[in-house]
Amino acid sequence: MSDFVSVCKVTDISPGSMRTYSVRGKQVALANVDGEFFAVSDTCSHEQCSLGTEGALDGNVIVCGCHGAQFDVTNGSVMAPPAPTDITSYETKVTGNEVFVQI
Ligand code: FES
Repeated sequence: MSDFVSVCKVTDISPGSMRTYSVRGKQVALANVDGEFFAVSDTCSHEQCSLGTEGALDGNVIVCGCHGAQFDVTNGSVMAPPAPTDITSYETKVTGNEVFVQI
């Protein structure tokens, strides 16, 4: 069963950046794209690098810092190799100043 879990404050992640959080035992990359929050698995499907800490955010695209794979942060889909598979994406919501991730 999944619930919305409070992860951080809106002000913790500035627009155009992302951070990695451990949420219910899962590593999640949480990104702020022009004020809208998106959450995906933090683990690159290529060689398991951390996307949130080693990667870069370019608009809605996460670029893995290890070998350059790209993912759409809005839905976890692969946009460029060498990543072989999509990554999980999670629903988010903002209530007040808190960002929640459904996990
Ligand atoms: S670990 Fe991400 S591209 Fe290789």
